[in-house]
Amino acid sequence: MCGIIGYCGNSAAFKFLYEGLKRLEYRGYDSVGICIDGKVVKMKGHVDQLNKCDSKIKNSGNFGIGHTRWATHGAPSYINAHPHTSGYINIVHNGIIENYKEIKEVLTKKGYSFISQTDTEAAAHLINYYYKDDLKEAVLKACKELKGSYAIVAMCEKKNQLVAVRNESPLIVGRGKEGVHLASDISAIADKCDELFVLDNGEFALINGAEISFFDIFDKPIIKQAETVDKDYESVSKEGYDTFMEKEINEGAKSVKNTLEGYRDKYLPPKFLEGIKSIYFCACGTAYHACCYGKKLIERYVKIPCFSLIASEFKEPYTTDYSQSLFVFISQSGETADTLAAHTLAKKYGAKTLAVTNVSKSSLEDVADIVIKTRAGREYAVASTKAYLAQLGFCLYFTQVLCGLNNIPCDLTAEENLNKLYKAIDAAGKMSQTQSLAQIMLNNEHAYFLGRGMDFITASEASLKLKEITYIHSEAYPAGELKHGTLALIEKDTKVIAFLTQSELKEKMIGNISEVKARGAFVTLFTQFDNVDCGCDKILLPDLPDVYMPLIAIVPCQQLAFLVSVAKGLDCDKPRNLAKSVTVQ
Ligand code: AGP
Repeated sequence: MCGIIGYCGNSAAFKFLYEGLKRLEYRGYDSVGICIDGKVVKMKGHVDQLNKCDSKIKNSGNFGIGHTRWATHGAPSYINAHPHTSGYINIVHNGIIENYKEIKEVLTKKGYSFISQTDTEAAAHLINYYYKDDLKEAVLKACKELKGSYAIVAMCEKKNQLVAVRNESPLIVGRGKEGVHLASDISAIADKCDELFVLDNGEFALINGAEISFFDIFDKPIIKQAETVDKDYESVSKEGYDTFMEKEINEGAKSVKNTLEGYRDKYLPPKFLEGIKSIYFCACGTAYHACCYGKKLIERYVKIPCFSLIASEFKEPYTTDYSQSLFVFISQSGETADTLAAHTLAKKYGAKTLAVTNVSKSSLEDVADIVIKTRAGREYAVASTKAYLAQLGFCLYFTQVLCGLNNIPCDLTAEENLNKLYKAIDAAGKMSQTQSLAQIMLNNEHAYFLGRGMDFITASEASLKLKEITYIHSEAYPAGELKHGTLALIEKDTKVIAFLTQSELKEKMIGNISEVKARGAFVTLFTQFDNVDCGCDKILLPDLPDVYMPLIAIVPCQQLAFLVSVAKGLDCDKPRNLAKSVTVQ
């Protein structure tokens, strides 16, 4: 999951490369680099570092490539930063070249020396090995030997040319008034292009000045239709907030509202759902937690077999016939490699597939039978907040549709209920007690999040938020399961955050809270029941029917993670080691 940018045209390349990399920074930000007319500048750290470039680089040279990195092979460093150079060849790469070691071994015997720990450097030397005087030919020959996922843009300082190739990792080519642009995702170049070409797997593009030609690995020309450009991509603005994360947490209610209002025109054709006997939700990370909510809703209301799968674990299906199953893939980015791989497997075994994404023109959108958008708006913070709420909103809508098809009474998306929900989400983001809980959590090394049923989903998402932006180790545990081992870790002053929002589990949850309190834990309870007294700190949530509480209870937990991250002086928008879309398996 790195970000690639390229430009060839009649203006200075630097401004296009810099701005494009800023918009791609969500894909990784360990290190950054550009090559303009053969001159390479690269450094460890965020894209902003490129501002240190001297004016010569900034004002001269009208063709170049750039890269913002999320390390897969080799630590974040100057040496491992892209572009990687071999002779006159410079390349940037997103993906994983699985046979790079074999290539490295062969080329080392042929006299090439490797200075980085990356897989990409092997591709650079391989292209150089085949380069006689034709960049396109060299890239074609090299790609015949590469195995794995790659989006590569290669340039040769002796030619005013760029050659791009896509295999699994996304790559888009666009043309506008000032020249030709390339990027890992459309948001980086949409406002500069009048026409866009989305490269499919195995497709190459040769950019020669303003000319673009497409071909396959056998050098057979390909005619590609230009796609119109959706110019209203959102500007990368924090709109007065100091961080994207705070802005996006505060957009949670609007995100759900916009998503559900977008479904009024009946997105899901009833015919598509006919004959479905079981439903599999499938995703990663936060999106997986949304899947778990969808599963619970369908079990409770629709009562057909429903499962939630971690995409990277969906490798050995129990059957090869999913023809009566619907797979629902939830993915904010639509580019998560694990989720895409699971989709490929589901399709291979005959499943119908529905993709729920938050970004236009994603790889998942290209392959799913039906795509439903969440309308959270662009989410820039790596830690997902408003998009998660929108995904939960989708689950409410999806359950409502299935109930309608099965003549099951259901008012989950009744306007009156939803208006109360939006207000409750907003109110949950304004609770002052969250600040004091953040102070309590600030200097902790560990935290435990407990819940039963739907509350375990909230506990899981709350724990992930805390981990990924504060680096505090935390675990979410089914409250009833804790006593079967992990309770051994609970000791005096262990921080435990408990959720109790499901009426039918109230008594059992009260019992679990007393078990951890009896062992000295410091418990903070999130609940909407003001008559519940567990003898611990209580944060009273806005009171709505239990089924809506996962959309409410998660909001103060998003804020908790945000407040602790900021108090620790961490970058809550770009946490270490992570990226917004994980395009490697
Ligand atoms: C969210 O806070 C995480 N950054 C991460 O778990 C994310 O949800 C996961 O990588 C899936 O991403 P996707 O929704 O774009 O597929």
